[in-house]
Amino acid sequence: MAKLLITGGAGFIGSHTCVVLLEAGYDLVVLDDFSNSSSRALDRVIALAGITPSESSAKRLVTVPGSINNSLVLEKVFREAIETGQPIEGVIHFAGLKAVGESVADPLRYWHVNVGGSISLINVMAAFSCHTLVFSSSATLYGYPDQVPIPETAPIQPINPYGHSKAAVERLLNDLAASAPGQWRIACLRYFNPVGAHASGRIGEDPLGIPNNLFPFVSQVAVGRRERLQIFGGDWSTPDGTCVRDYIHVMDLAEGHKAALDCLLTEAPQLLTLNLGSGRGISVLEVVNAFGQACGQPVPHTIVDRRPGDAAITVADPSEALRRLGWSTRRSLDDICRDGWAWQSANPAGYGQRG
Ligand SMILES: NC(=O)c1ccc[n+]([C@@H]2O[C@H](COP(=O)([O-])OP(=O)(O)OC[C@H]3O[C@@H](n4cnc5c(N)ncnc54)[C@H](O)[C@@H]3O)[C@@H](O)[C@H]2O)c1
Repeated sequence: MAKLLITGGAGFIGSHTCVVLLEAGYDLVVLDDFSNSSSRALDRVIALAGITPSESSAKRLVTVPGSINNSLVLEKVFREAIETGQPIEGVIHFAGLKAVGESVADPLRYWHVNVGGSISLINVMAAFSCHTLVFSSSATLYGYPDQVPIPETAPIQPINPYGHSKAAVERLLNDLAASAPGQWRIACLRYFNPVGAHASGRIGEDPLGIPNNLFPFVSQVAVGRRERLQIFGGDWSTPDGTCVRDYIHVMDLAEGHKAALDCLLTEAPQLLTLNLGSGRGISVLEVVNAFGQACGQPVPHTIVDRRPGDAAITVADPSEALRRLGWSTRRSLDDICRDGWAWQSANPAGYGQRG
């Protein structure tokens, strides 16, 4: 089975995807600088995938601490894979920074890691003739969307440096594919709102500091780590006045990565740009109420003023992913809340460490 490099594989989406890929038989090298994750996540990934010492976890999942900005580390990963007789056949590139507010305050860092790190990775891939890449893009590219559900053909109009960094890498990947027709196999996957956790509750989202996103905030309130949720705006033009988003269970998202990779490795070279979302709009209040059901008590919340940068409704048109990959989401909002609560209640302080 093929060997893959997973950058940022210890993070939220990466760790869940590693479980799916290991279970499918892929061998993995995870490169992560642990700036926003814990190595404990990878210990649990190995256990969840049922890898026993006799099967040699060292062969199935090798961890390399290091940055995508460090070409020497990247070259070593590719060289050592060749030396073991199993070259890296594809890369899933999760590594990057993702906090919108932080990107406004420190755009240079975001361009350095998200754009500079991607360039450094792609350079090394090209040098080692590895031309298969799945890139973590984002629905944030669509800014304030002109139409919902949003198709992939909608205008790219990001409204913050984080979104600009994702748009820049997508642009680069398109230029690269066009420069050498028939060579690159690339998927730009535009995630909507990844939430939930592995059904075991062993791995999940573990944000540093105050969560930026709704779902981890709700779960931290439910577990007693935070007092009350603030809902930004109750006067949007939506059915209940709160913002509507497309929440996607992280295991559905993980399966979407496997589907994309399988497609790239088997079909002729191509560049795919796909929305990964459910196509189902869910309001903030619906999330809060469903989470209350899952954890057995209401989640305290207050509706406050709108905050800058939010759009009323963001929902994917996921039909292209179904057509190209045969993939669509399978899990419900109740599944999301049940699994998210399983993780948060069993790990109230997350993994309890970074690095
Ligand atoms: N979670 C979301 O809501 C969301 C939505 C759309 C797109 N994305 C993108 O998906 C990817 C994964 O997101 P996530 O939610 O799992 O985030 P995460 O922070 O949990 O995971 C990212 C991982 O990358 C690592 N990392 C950061 N900088 C690195 C560097 N220079 N070198 C090596 N490793 C580095 C972090 O330590 C972490 O383990 C990111 O690129 C993110 O921008 C996330």
